[in-house]
Amino acid sequence: MAIIKVRQNGPYLVEGDDVTVVDWNGTAYRLDKRPFALCRCGHSGRKPFCDGTHRHVGFQAAEPAVADGGPA
Ligand code: FES
Repeated sequence: MAIIKVRQNGPYLVEGDDVTVVDWNGTAYRLDKRPFALCRCGHSGRKPFCDGTHRHVGFQAAEPAVADGGPA
C-alpha cells in the first residue's frame, strides 16, 4: 500500500514500495530512494520530483484534509 502525504507548503511525499511513477508514454522513472517527493509547487528543476525549490520560491499551500476526505 502507498501513502501520499501532503506536506505543509511542500511536496507530495510518497511512501510505499509498490509505487511506480510513469510518464505520459508509460515509461517508468527511476526511483533512487524511498520515500520520494513529487513536486507540488511547479518550480522544481527535476519534475516530476521535488528538488527543494519550493522553499526558495515561498510556496504556500497548507490545505488540511477534512473528515470526509474532500478539500477544506
Ligand atoms: S514542491 Fe518541492 S520543488 Fe516543487
